[in-house]
Amino acid sequence: MAAEHSGEPPAWYGAGLAHIWLPYAQMKSARPPLPVVRTHGCRIVLADGRELVDGIASWWTACHGYNHPHIRQAVERQLAIMPHVMLGGLVHEQALTLARRLAELLPGDLTRVFFSDSGSVAVEVAMKMAVQFWLNQGVRTRKKFVAFRHGYHGDTTGAMAVCDPDGGMHALFRGLLPEHHLVDLPQDEASTAAFLQLLEGHSDELAGIIVEPLVQGAGGMRFHPAAVLRTLRQAADRHQLLLIFDEIFTGFGRTGGMFACEAADVVPDIIALSKALTGGTVPLAATIATQRVFDAFWSDDPTHALMHGPTYMANALACAAANASLDLFEWEPRLQQIANIARGLDRGLARCRGLPCVKDVRVKGAIGVVELDRIDDLDGLRARFLEEGVFVRPFGSIVYLTPAFTISDEELATLMRAVVKVVKAL
Ligand SMILES: Cc1ncc(COP(=O)(O)O)c(C=O)c1O
Repeated sequence: MAAEHSGEPPAWYGAGLAHIWLPYAQMKSARPPLPVVRTHGCRIVLADGRELVDGIASWWTACHGYNHPHIRQAVERQLAIMPHVMLGGLVHEQALTLARRLAELLPGDLTRVFFSDSGSVAVEVAMKMAVQFWLNQGVRTRKKFVAFRHGYHGDTTGAMAVCDPDGGMHALFRGLLPEHHLVDLPQDEASTAAFLQLLEGHSDELAGIIVEPLVQGAGGMRFHPAAVLRTLRQAADRHQLLLIFDEIFTGFGRTGGMFACEAADVVPDIIALSKALTGGTVPLAATIATQRVFDAFWSDDPTHALMHGPTYMANALACAAANASLDLFEWEPRLQQIANIARGLDRGLARCRGLPCVKDVRVKGAIGVVELDRIDDLDGLRARFLEEGVFVRPFGSIVYLTPAFTISDEELATLMRAVVKVVKAL
């Protein structure tokens, strides 16, 4: 604690910095990361004593704010009983309870839950399930996916291959990854015609369609109407394709409803969840399949089993955190808080409309976006937000807010004031 207010970075910072490799960063030129010593509520406390209002909720995970006592107590209780046990041949209360609760919470018959440890792996599992769904029925040709421009599904190899090669951060790997079909989301006549034509011509080689429903997150926080999802469902049904919804970002309230798929009244065949699943405490992900998908694996033939099993799948601490997070969604008025945030973002960010460098201002649920014509100095812009006492992390050409759902009106106002001030000064 002594170093917390001394102005000097703590000893561990200087000693360790030369040994860490940071995400999405050119290590040679990136500004040094900020040493964080504590979090609480919607605040990040730095080693020098500064306290930042957090606008990002740690990549959209900390939906109840940091250190929520109910989640902390659940994890502490579980830690004393059993931190982890392998899921091969064994199972435990937190995993089964969580699987049941997710199955009850999700629409339709999305009832079989496969746990893993990150969003990317949940996507890998979804893709593997979809390909094997066909293999188990003797169909060896259906192994490709339709994915969408501006989509992002993770950084592992399979997931990278269904990201937008340009917007999805993996341009360097172009030509090295398995090839799938990338098209525009069917949002208007021309894009719908192109999408349907693709399916007509290629359905024999397609296992499924993968999409981030309602909001394409890391590809630029782009919103699309629910009708797009209905178009995808109808097209998937017509061509017997599996429809995969990647709700790793949108799941658990972020777009206003508990899951984005509810807005379209569409049930995918497979859904991937992670991020806010544990309320931002412990890594956990889940890939949930409908009965029809599961049935294709239910067989007297042992080779029809899903051969996947991350070592830490269904970690008991993570499942306890997720169960506690679901309690909070049941006990506390999260969806009302999200609606309140949406109204606040609408009002507050409207002040950016019409500014010379602003291309668009949009809000969906607890996501507020100010899209700029371009951002020339990303690092400089990020630093400007720190000067305003907030943690906001613009990327591409957008400044965005995805706060915890528990954020106070004052904290939200602080975030929006900072965004308006910084954007106005550009
Ligand atoms: C929609 C979506 N899918 C997948 C991922 C990958 O998740 P993870 O970073 O946990 O691997 C992300 C992460 O941002 C995401 O937003």
